Amino acid sequence: MPLTTDSVAGAVPKAIEWVGGADGCLRLLDQTLLPTRVEYIDCDDVETVWEAIKVLRVRGAPAIGVAAAYGFCIGLRDQRQSDRSEFDAAAERVAAYLIGSRPTAVNLAWAVNRLQRAASEEPDRDSEAVWDALLAEARQIADEDAATCRRIGEHGATLIPDGGTVLTHCNAGALATSAYGTALSAMYVAHEQGKRFRVYADETRPLLQGARLTAFELQAAGIDVHVLCDNAAGALMAAGRVDLVIVGADRIAANGDTANKIGTYGLAVLAHHHDIPFYVAAPRSTFDLSLASGSGIPIEERGRDEVAAGCGRTTVPDGVSCFNPAFDVTPARLIRGIITEKGVSGAVSEAEIGEIFRNAP
Ligand code: MRU
Repeated sequence: MPLTTDSVAGAVPKAIEWVGGADGCLRLLDQTLLPTRVEYIDCDDVETVWEAIKVLRVRGAPAIGVAAAYGFCIGLRDQRQSDRSEFDAAAERVAAYLIGSRPTAVNLAWAVNRLQRAASEEPDRDSEAVWDALLAEARQIADEDAATCRRIGEHGATLIPDGGTVLTHCNAGALATSAYGTALSAMYVAHEQGKRFRVYADETRPLLQGARLTAFELQAAGIDVHVLCDNAAGALMAAGRVDLVIVGADRIAANGDTANKIGTYGLAVLAHHHDIPFYVAAPRSTFDLSLASGSGIPIEERGRDEVAAGCGRTTVPDGVSCFNPAFDVTPARLIRGIITEKGVSGAVSEAEIGEIFRNAP
């Protein structure tokens, strides 16, 4: 059964959805198959959720947070009849297991920790009642993500010039969130407002999230999108064909240093050189204020074959090692502003980020 479509993204299939009630399942669009095959997997055990996160069937910081929240519920479903101490011990194990699936996007741990907190705030309730509350909380995380992304889009759309061009990297769209996306949400809202603009999507080696996913969803929404090899971005900027860069984020430190898909840092350096405004779009759940700077952000390193045999063909000689970090860190000084659900920040600094969190929510 197909998932419902995202309203703003038009024909874009939903990336993630809980289907049914307490005995339901987590339905994921298998993003490893896009753009040629639109297929779903139904997860009803925590191992399937873990594997889906690990191999990027579900990916993008907010979406893996939502997936992990539902995965946490699935992993504890068999403990509903256990006594509370057994339930709580299982919760610790399931949380550690899920948090270990991918290290960089802080939304994953943020979502699981939020559910753990919800459970610990109800020490006197039985396991079944706590489990029901956890599923409700997971649904709440998913709903809040959609609403938050919509607000990010409304703020971000003000930056997109009518008749202009926007460059983006990786996929920070509806496929990476509950709905709308972060960087791409700005484009969806600008499109809804009747603005005409072109999006340049870096293909995003090695897993091609820009070519496979960003181009897929923008095309489905009727937005003019052109894909370029990552190494063409400098030439495009030098030719004066980029007005603005907007990317997503996986983790933002207290000083604004931002981890995002590998290649983002190089893009920010290029944008700075060409005096092109470079913005990061992210919900507050992507900030990790426990880290003073980006040097503390754990960077996931992935397997050699993603580089050496990426598209089903060997492109690196046997025996040659590959460097394959999934993310890099862009220093705050290269970022013109951060677009959150609270608005567009001024020059990125610890004080400015403090403002984003003042008077939460
Ligand atoms: O490895 P991925 O595909 O999970 O990386 C995704 C990104 O880097 C996104 O830009 C980021 O998570 C923001 S998604 C709104």
